[in-house]
Amino acid sequence: MAEHCSRCWTSGARRPLLFCALMALLSFLAAGPFVLAEGIVFHVANRCPFPVWPASAPNTGHPVLAGGGFLVPQGKSKRVVAPATWNGRFWARTGCNFTANGGVGAAAACLTGDCEGRLACNGSVGAPPATLVEVSMHEGPGKGSSYDVSLVDGYNLPVSVSAVPGTGAADPSKCAIAGCARDVNAVCPPEMQVTAKSAVVACKSACLAFGLDAFCCRGAYATPAACRGSVYSRLFKDACPAYYSYAYDTTATTASACHAREYVITFCPGRWGGEPDGAAAAQF
Ligand SMILES: *[C@@H]1O[C@H](CO)[C@@H](O)[C@H](O)[C@H]1NC(C)=O
Ligand SMILES: *[C@@H]1O[C@H](CO)[C@@H](O)[C@H](O)[C@H]1NC(C)=O
Repeated sequence: MAEHCSRCWTSGARRPLLFCALMALLSFLAAGPFVLAEGIVFHVANRCPFPVWPASAPNTGHPVLAGGGFLVPQGKSKRVVAPATWNGRFWARTGCNFTANGGVGAAAACLTGDCEGRLACNGSVGAPPATLVEVSMHEGPGKGSSYDVSLVDGYNLPVSVSAVPGTGAADPSKCAIAGCARDVNAVCPPEMQVTAKSAVVACKSACLAFGLDAFCCRGAYATPAACRGSVYSRLFKDACPAYYSYAYDTTATTASACHAREYVITFCPGRWGGEPDGAAAAQF
């Protein structure tokens, strides 16, 4: 803006002054939120009966969104704007208390998903186990956006992802990743539980809990043919059929070629607490 104007003022002519005002307005618009019409919007919603502290971390070469972490009180949502080709992950942190360490330092502030004790993760990935929303956005002409939900490192909360109807997805139903049929923490085997005050707050994957190649799809098990899941991954699958229950889970839902400009990431998309009371019970 300053550059345009200094040029205008020194010219001393009337018409350039008008031009200057126009350029100043355009610069303002370009620097303001208006330019974000070119990007993608994630509405990060919290339907859990408690606050969550969602976080996101970019893949290499992509920017940090919204400081990398923020509070979303129960029943609220936060609008996060991303570049149209953003790649990275979202997860939720639970049981946070940033007062204890002033929001800085390496001591964990959250019971799950913690990023070095900070509210704004600033690009750091969270501590597993945590349910991960993995996104690879490509809004605009071309291949479209894709995303999935992964329990490869374990689970802390159920989450769903959907495209906002009317924002560009030809068929929003193809852009939906469902939540869970039940809360994994309620069925987590003791050897995989993460507990706090005797409550199960997260559930490790078998890979995270035992570190064996057969569970982690590494070494001799680094192919889909050799890595076919386990009794543990099936437990995840039964609770959350849409998610990746292990690295080579071919039955997971992957939303692909979604051309929406706005998406909703909802933590605890369905009912919470207690057992579902019908066959077609609401989802967690
Ligand atoms: C957070 O931590 C501080 C300092 O340890 C403590 O005084 C406070 O009660 C905690 N808040 C909650 C909600 O647990
Ligand atoms: C956030 O990360 C960037 C890049 O690593 C770094 O330059 C910056 O100082 C960090 N900001 C804070 C508040 O930690």
